[in-house]
Amino acid sequence: MELSDKQLAAEKAAEQVKDGMVLGIGSGSTVNYMLQKLAERIETEGIQIKGIPSSKKTEKLANELGISLTTFAEHHHIDLAIDGADEIDEHFQLAKGGGGSLVREKMVDSHADYFIVIAGADKLVKRLGAFPLPVEVIPFGWEVTEKKLQELGCQTTLRYQEEKPFVSDNGNYIIDCQFKSIEEPENVHKEIKALLGVVETGIFINMVNEVIISENGKIKVVKP
Ligand code: A5P
Repeated sequence: MELSDKQLAAEKAAEQVKDGMVLGIGSGSTVNYMLQKLAERIETEGIQIKGIPSSKKTEKLANELGISLTTFAEHHHIDLAIDGADEIDEHFQLAKGGGGSLVREKMVDSHADYFIVIAGADKLVKRLGAFPLPVEVIPFGWEVTEKKLQELGCQTTLRYQEEKPFVSDNGNYIIDCQFKSIEEPENVHKEIKALLGVVETGIFINMVNEVIISENGKIKVVKP
């Protein structure tokens, strides 16, 4: 069976994991492929790693695959983080959080010495913003936080799952903000982050060390 682009990028990244590393593990379907490949390497090559998962879903899959996990309580330092993205712009800025794990992802990815993003070429964009930007907010007063977000010029939607507001691993809500085009991601991130009730935005600024992209079966590694 032919491998999909996201699977190819994911497997390439899994090859960069080295024995003894503390690995930051992102979330999403691309990362899931990376975990499967990593589990294979652990089995066949006997490498030992410890992972810090960025979501309960990732934690569950890693446990099922027999990948050892650890926490920030035990390790304050991550050697390498591997994560997917919803959008990657020309300047290597990211939009993330489509799966609702943006806060933990940002913590894991930003505490890594080296951060690799893995994706199919469909995630490459000139500018962020076509994908509605996920913003995690505390449930208390989310309605007024939403109004403040709208004043920044976006259309907002409270994320739902099974007819109830989606609740993140941190017990918060997600408001998806449709800006259409985000000209200055860093400023937009700062403006949103300054609002009372906002926990974090899905804009990841100046964090990426390497992007592994696959397009029609061809892998490309690019660095800022
Ligand atoms: C999860 O919250 C996201 O940030 C994911 O990393 C992103 O949505 C990419 O997911 P896929 O790998 O499933 O496209």
